[in-house]
Amino acid sequence: MTRRPYIVGNWKMHGTRAMLSEARAIDRAAQRHMKVEVAIAPPYTLIHAIHREAEQIAVGAQDCHEVDGGAHTGDVSAAMIADAGAKFVILGHSERRQNHNESDALVRAKAESALAAGLRIIMCCGETAQLRESGDAVAFVKQQLAASLPPAETMPADIAERLTVAYEPIWAIGTGNVATTDDIGEMHAAIRALLIELFGEEQGAEVRIIYGGSVKPDNAAAIFAVPDVGGALVGGASLTADSFMGIALAA
Ligand code: G3P
Repeated sequence: MTRRPYIVGNWKMHGTRAMLSEARAIDRAAQRHMKVEVAIAPPYTLIHAIHREAEQIAVGAQDCHEVDGGAHTGDVSAAMIADAGAKFVILGHSERRQNHNESDALVRAKAESALAAGLRIIMCCGETAQLRESGDAVAFVKQQLAASLPPAETMPADIAERLTVAYEPIWAIGTGNVATTDDIGEMHAAIRALLIELFGEEQGAEVRIIYGGSVKPDNAAAIFAVPDVGGALVGGASLTADSFMGIALAA
């Protein structure tokens, strides 16, 4: 099965209600470009508003807590974001791993909670500049991803639909330094091999692997031409409809 390219905007900690007009513009443009699956992950505060208005795009969250509810001041559960209209959640982003000390085990617990709440997950992985320079990037990413994903036997049957892997080299995020197409190709092939090892030939081959890290309208086509790049997770360039849909159109 050939999947539609999946283009996801991660708005990070950007966006007040003034940004709803950009979400509307993205939704209108997505209705004209149905060959691409477009989604945005705004801050929690905008999920419900975008969900209510969007006709084409899916809305998701950038994180969730690992338990359903309880005495966790300031946290938001997977069930709560699903109730607000989220269809997916980004997990294990390097900014969460670095800024909030999220371990692989915690990310895995969040994934289990999100899947149990009926959400799709985008599982992020990626190496530091130091690991890239030392030649250990592939081994590190495979180990990080394997440790962050729930065990295959606990995954839902439609895992190829519910799981997307996002490869985001940390040194490429927000820096303008994109990984070379050779490096992206090598890493996506290694992730594909791991997914097949974990989930079997059929399911493992269907899970989408998307790239993130300084994707812009002018470099998107070259990235999407790399074998096994199934889309992009876009930060800065997803904040305006023009640049975000410029990327989607290159897919
Ligand atoms: O999750 C998206 C991301 O971290 C990439 O950000 O700004 O480099 O596109 P950016």
